[in-house]
Amino acid sequence: MGKAVELKMHKVKNMSKKPSNPPKIQILPSILAGDFSRLGEEAKRAEDAGADALHVDIMDGHFVPNLTLGPKAVAAINRSTNLFLDVHLMIYNPYDYVEKFVEAGADRVTFHFEATENVKETLEYVRKSGVQVGLAFCPETSHEMVLPFLALCDMVLLMTVNPGFGGQAFMPEVLEKVEFTREMANRLDLPLNIEVDGGIDDKTAPLCVKAGANLLVAGTHLYKAPDMAKAISKLRGATR
Ligand code: DX5
Ligand code: ZN
Repeated sequence: MGKAVELKMHKVKNMSKKPSNPPKIQILPSILAGDFSRLGEEAKRAEDAGADALHVDIMDGHFVPNLTLGPKAVAAINRSTNLFLDVHLMIYNPYDYVEKFVEAGADRVTFHFEATENVKETLEYVRKSGVQVGLAFCPETSHEMVLPFLALCDMVLLMTVNPGFGGQAFMPEVLEKVEFTREMANRLDLPLNIEVDGGIDDKTAPLCVKAGANLLVAGTHLYKAPDMAKAISKLRGATR
């Protein structure tokens, strides 16, 4: 990590933008934009449409001003689909809830850097629980904050909207953070997944992939599309 910390931002900007060995691009519909009266069917719909994984947003009404689902709903979703469950916790004290979401069927648990003072302990705890771990960063959190945790994560989620609601406009200023994170991961030779979440569609996804993201979360764009399968393959095509 010492080597990475010494890097200056102006140097980073001049480096090649293309990851030397990019991890696979995946499309993850966010069930937040689905019909909550039919969560199981909405999960299955994403699976049948060719999604690579399902993104499930958990909000506590404190860390973000919205409330969504708890472990019981995640367990119900898990019974309805074979998709990998990418659980995005937007809650304070994530450590206290890891076990419940793992039991519910989460395959990756992502929590926010801004939501706890025990980032390292929580990352280690999620890993010990036998699932992948992701660390999420709000748009206003500075680039450098990701550095100490890169080697401890399976995935870094760089929010491209302020967390809390679907259907918001993509924030292009986050692209620089995506580039920075990919460059740092490459320098440390880490096969890191970089996820973007918020306002992802056919226009914004290629920008994110060019910057180094490989996991594309899309709620409104996919769940509100007339045909999710077509929307997924078009989104995939747009990133090639
Ligand atoms: C927002 C959530 C997102 C949300 C994205 O806080 O984390 O996962 O579902 O929704 P869209 O794709 O509609 O911006
Ligand atoms: Zn999310």
